[in-house]
Amino acid sequence: MLNIALPKGRLGDKVYKLLMALGYPCRELEDEGCRKLIFENEESGVRYFLVKPSDVAIYVEKGAADIGVVGKDILLESEAQVYELLDLGFGRCRMAVAAKKDFRDDTDRPLRVATKFPHIARTYYDGLGRETEMIKLYGSIELAPLVGMADVIVDIVETGTTLRENGLEVVSEIVPISARLIANPAAYVFKGEEIRRICDELKKEISK
Ligand code: PRP
Repeated sequence: MLNIALPKGRLGDKVYKLLMALGYPCRELEDEGCRKLIFENEESGVRYFLVKPSDVAIYVEKGAADIGVVGKDILLESEAQVYELLDLGFGRCRMAVAAKKDFRDDTDRPLRVATKFPHIARTYYDGLGRETEMIKLYGSIELAPLVGMADVIVDIVETGTTLRENGLEVVSEIVPISARLIANPAAYVFKGEEIRRICDELKKEISK
Protein backbone atom coordinates (compact mmCIF):
# COMPACT_ATOMS: atom_id res chain seq x y z
CA MET A 1 0.00 0.00 0.00
CA LEU A 2 1.18 3.49 -0.82
CA ASN A 3 0.01 5.99 1.80
CA ILE A 4 -0.65 9.48 0.52
CA ALA A 5 -1.36 12.58 2.64
CA LEU A 6 -3.77 14.71 0.68
CA PRO A 7 -4.46 18.28 1.81
CA LYS A 8 -8.17 18.99 2.26
CA GLY A 9 -9.51 21.60 -0.13
CA ARG A 10 -8.75 22.90 -3.60
CA LEU A 11 -5.10 21.85 -3.67
CA GLY A 12 -5.99 18.31 -2.61
CA ASP A 13 -8.76 18.07 -5.22
CA LYS A 14 -6.31 19.03 -7.94
CA VAL A 15 -3.65 16.59 -6.72
CA TYR A 16 -6.18 13.76 -6.43
CA LYS A 17 -7.24 14.28 -10.05
CA LEU A 18 -3.62 13.99 -11.15
CA LEU A 19 -3.02 10.86 -9.07
CA MET A 20 -6.25 9.32 -10.27
CA ALA A 21 -5.02 9.75 -13.85
CA LEU A 22 -1.78 7.98 -12.87
CA GLY A 23 -3.65 4.87 -11.73
CA TYR A 24 -4.52 5.70 -8.11
CA PRO A 25 -8.27 6.24 -8.16
CA CYS A 26 -10.44 5.98 -5.08
CA ARG A 27 -14.08 6.54 -5.99
CA GLU A 28 -15.23 7.03 -2.41
CA LEU A 29 -12.99 10.09 -2.19
CA GLU A 30 -15.00 11.72 -4.95
CA ASP A 31 -18.17 11.68 -2.83
CA GLU A 32 -18.31 15.29 -1.58
CA GLY A 33 -20.66 14.61 1.31
CA CYS A 34 -18.37 11.99 2.83
CA ARG A 35 -16.71 12.89 6.16
CA LYS A 36 -14.32 9.95 6.30
CA LEU A 37 -10.61 10.70 6.63
CA ILE A 38 -9.09 7.49 5.30
CA PHE A 39 -9.86 6.20 1.83
CA GLU A 40 -8.47 2.98 0.51
CA ASN A 41 -8.40 1.25 -2.86
CA GLU A 42 -6.87 -2.15 -2.41
CA GLU A 43 -6.97 -2.87 -6.09
CA SER A 44 -4.67 0.02 -7.01
CA GLY A 45 -2.75 -0.31 -3.73
CA VAL A 46 -3.36 3.19 -2.43
CA ARG A 47 -4.55 4.70 0.81
CA TYR A 48 -5.34 8.41 1.07
CA PHE A 49 -5.36 10.39 4.32
CA LEU A 50 -7.28 13.64 4.23
CA VAL A 51 -5.39 16.10 6.39
CA LYS A 52 -5.33 19.80 7.11
CA PRO A 53 -2.91 21.38 4.58
CA SER A 54 -0.61 22.63 7.33
CA ASP A 55 -0.33 19.08 8.75
CA VAL A 56 0.74 17.27 5.55
CA ALA A 57 4.48 17.64 6.19
CA ILE A 58 4.22 16.20 9.70
CA TYR A 59 2.34 13.08 8.48
CA VAL A 60 5.06 12.51 5.91
CA GLU A 61 7.92 13.26 8.31
CA LYS A 62 6.57 10.78 10.86
CA GLY A 63 6.12 8.12 8.18
CA ALA A 64 2.35 7.84 8.61
CA ALA A 65 2.20 8.85 4.95
CA ASP A 66 4.82 7.90 2.35
CA ILE A 67 4.25 10.94 0.17
CA GLY A 68 2.20 14.11 0.25
CA VAL A 69 1.64 17.45 -1.37
CA VAL A 70 2.27 20.61 0.58
CA GLY A 71 2.83 24.33 0.03
CA LYS A 72 6.46 25.45 0.16
CA ASP A 73 5.42 27.96 2.87
CA ILE A 74 4.41 25.14 5.21
CA LEU A 75 7.51 23.17 4.35
CA LEU A 76 9.79 26.09 5.19
CA GLU A 77 7.92 26.93 8.37
CA SER A 78 7.86 23.36 9.72
CA GLU A 79 11.43 22.42 8.72
CA ALA A 80 10.10 18.86 8.37
CA GLN A 81 12.74 16.24 7.61
CA VAL A 82 11.30 15.08 4.29
CA TYR A 83 12.51 14.84 0.71
CA GLU A 84 11.20 17.55 -1.57
CA LEU A 85 10.82 15.74 -4.89
CA LEU A 86 9.00 18.05 -7.25
CA ASP A 87 7.70 21.58 -7.70
CA LEU A 88 4.18 20.98 -8.99
CA GLY A 89 4.00 24.54 -10.26
CA PHE A 90 0.52 25.30 -8.98
CA GLY A 91 -0.70 27.15 -5.92
CA ARG A 92 1.80 29.85 -6.85
CA CYS A 93 2.12 32.87 -4.58
CA ARG A 94 4.90 34.62 -2.68
CA MET A 95 5.97 35.08 0.90
CA ALA A 96 6.47 38.79 1.43
CA VAL A 97 6.93 41.53 3.97
CA ALA A 98 4.17 44.15 3.80
CA ALA A 99 3.42 47.33 5.68
CA LYS A 100 1.28 50.47 5.65
CA LYS A 101 2.16 52.79 2.79
CA ASP A 102 3.70 55.40 5.11
CA PHE A 103 5.82 52.83 7.02
CA ARG A 104 9.37 53.92 7.93
CA ASP A 105 11.58 51.46 9.78
CA ASP A 106 12.81 52.78 13.13
CA THR A 107 16.02 50.81 13.66
CA ASP A 108 16.39 52.08 17.25
CA ARG A 109 13.86 49.47 18.41
CA PRO A 110 12.95 45.87 17.50
CA LEU A 111 10.68 45.55 14.50
CA ARG A 112 7.24 44.18 15.45
CA VAL A 113 6.37 41.46 12.94
CA ALA A 114 2.90 39.87 12.80
CA THR A 115 2.80 36.53 11.01
CA LYS A 116 1.50 33.00 10.69
CA PHE A 117 5.08 32.06 9.78
CA PRO A 118 7.37 33.08 12.68
CA HIS A 119 10.15 30.72 11.68
CA ILE A 120 10.34 32.01 8.11
CA ALA A 121 10.10 35.60 9.34
CA ARG A 122 12.78 35.14 11.99
CA THR A 123 15.17 33.44 9.56
CA TYR A 124 14.65 36.28 7.09
CA TYR A 125 15.28 39.05 9.62
CA ASP A 126 18.18 37.20 11.27
CA GLY A 127 19.77 37.14 7.82
CA LEU A 128 19.41 40.91 7.70
CA GLY A 129 20.70 41.28 11.25
CA ARG A 130 17.47 43.07 12.22
CA GLU A 131 16.15 42.56 15.73
CA THR A 132 12.46 41.63 15.82
CA GLU A 133 9.55 40.98 18.12
CA MET A 134 7.42 38.19 16.64
CA ILE A 135 3.66 38.32 17.03
CA LYS A 136 2.21 34.96 16.05
CA LEU A 137 -1.29 35.17 14.57
CA TYR A 138 -3.54 32.57 12.97
CA GLY A 139 -5.35 34.63 10.33
CA SER A 140 -6.37 38.13 9.18
CA ILE A 141 -2.70 39.09 9.52
CA GLU A 142 -3.28 42.31 7.57
CA LEU A 143 -5.22 43.72 10.51
CA ALA A 144 -2.18 43.89 12.83
CA PRO A 145 -0.43 46.95 11.30
CA LEU A 146 -3.77 48.71 10.81
CA VAL A 147 -4.51 48.69 14.53
CA GLY A 148 -0.93 49.58 15.48
CA MET A 149 -0.10 46.16 16.90
CA ALA A 150 2.69 45.44 14.39
CA ASP A 151 5.02 47.43 12.13
CA VAL A 152 5.05 44.89 9.31
CA ILE A 153 3.53 41.53 8.40
CA VAL A 154 5.16 38.49 6.84
CA ASP A 155 2.49 36.68 4.89
CA ILE A 156 1.38 35.02 1.68
CA VAL A 157 0.52 37.36 -1.17
CA GLU A 158 -1.37 35.81 -4.04
CA THR A 159 -3.37 38.37 -6.02
CA GLY A 160 -2.42 41.28 -3.74
CA THR A 161 -6.10 42.13 -3.21
CA THR A 162 -6.07 41.74 0.58
CA LEU A 163 -3.10 44.10 0.88
CA ARG A 164 -4.61 46.65 -1.50
CA GLU A 165 -8.01 46.68 0.15
CA ASN A 166 -6.38 47.29 3.52
CA GLY A 167 -3.99 50.04 2.41
CA LEU A 168 -0.87 47.90 2.72
CA GLU A 169 1.92 47.29 0.22
CA VAL A 170 4.75 44.84 -0.30
CA VAL A 171 8.02 46.08 1.20
CA SER A 172 10.14 43.12 0.14
CA GLU A 173 9.73 39.61 -1.21
CA ILE A 174 11.12 36.70 0.76
CA VAL A 175 10.54 33.59 -1.32
CA PRO A 176 8.29 32.29 -4.12
CA ILE A 177 5.82 29.61 -3.02
CA SER A 178 4.12 26.72 -4.83
CA ALA A 179 2.91 23.18 -4.15
CA ARG A 180 5.61 20.52 -3.67
CA LEU A 181 5.58 16.73 -3.78
CA ILE A 182 7.32 15.41 -0.68
CA ALA A 183 8.34 11.94 0.50
CA ASN A 184 9.30 10.29 3.75
CA PRO A 185 13.05 9.44 3.48
CA ALA A 186 12.61 5.80 4.58
CA ALA A 187 9.63 5.29 2.28
CA TYR A 188 11.73 6.72 -0.52
CA VAL A 189 14.09 3.79 -0.01
CA PHE A 190 11.55 1.00 0.53
CA LYS A 191 8.94 2.18 -1.97
CA GLY A 192 11.41 4.12 -4.11
CA GLU A 193 10.51 2.66 -7.46
CA GLU A 194 6.83 3.46 -7.10
CA ILE A 195 7.48 6.93 -5.69
CA ARG A 196 9.94 7.78 -8.48
CA ARG A 197 7.42 6.60 -11.07
CA ILE A 198 4.75 8.87 -9.59
CA CYS A 199 7.21 11.75 -9.53
CA ASP A 200 8.21 11.22 -13.18
CA GLU A 201 4.61 10.84 -14.32
CA LEU A 202 3.53 13.96 -12.42
CA LYS A 203 6.39 15.87 -14.03
CA LYS A 204 5.14 14.81 -17.47
CA GLU A 205 1.53 15.58 -16.55
CA ILE A 206 2.23 19.13 -15.35
CA SER A 207 4.48 20.01 -18.27
CA LYS A 208 1.63 19.26 -20.75
C1 PRP B 1 -4.21 34.37 2.79
C2 PRP B 1 -3.09 35.27 3.23
C3 PRP B 1 -3.59 36.63 2.83
C4 PRP B 1 -4.39 36.35 1.58
C5 PRP B 1 -3.58 36.72 0.36
O1 PRP B 1 -5.18 34.41 3.76
O2 PRP B 1 -2.85 35.15 4.62
O3 PRP B 1 -4.39 37.18 3.82
O4 PRP B 1 -4.66 34.94 1.57
O5 PRP B 1 -4.29 36.53 -0.83
P1 PRP B 1 -4.47 37.70 -1.89
O6 PRP B 1 -3.13 38.32 -2.16
O7 PRP B 1 -5.01 36.99 -3.11
O8 PRP B 1 -5.45 38.69 -1.35
P2 PRP B 1 -6.36 33.34 3.86
O9 PRP B 1 -7.32 33.56 2.75
O10 PRP B 1 -5.76 31.99 3.93
O11 PRP B 1 -7.08 33.73 5.20
P3 PRP B 1 -6.55 34.04 6.67
O12 PRP B 1 -6.54 35.53 6.78
O13 PRP B 1 -7.53 33.41 7.58
O14 PRP B 1 -5.16 33.46 6.82
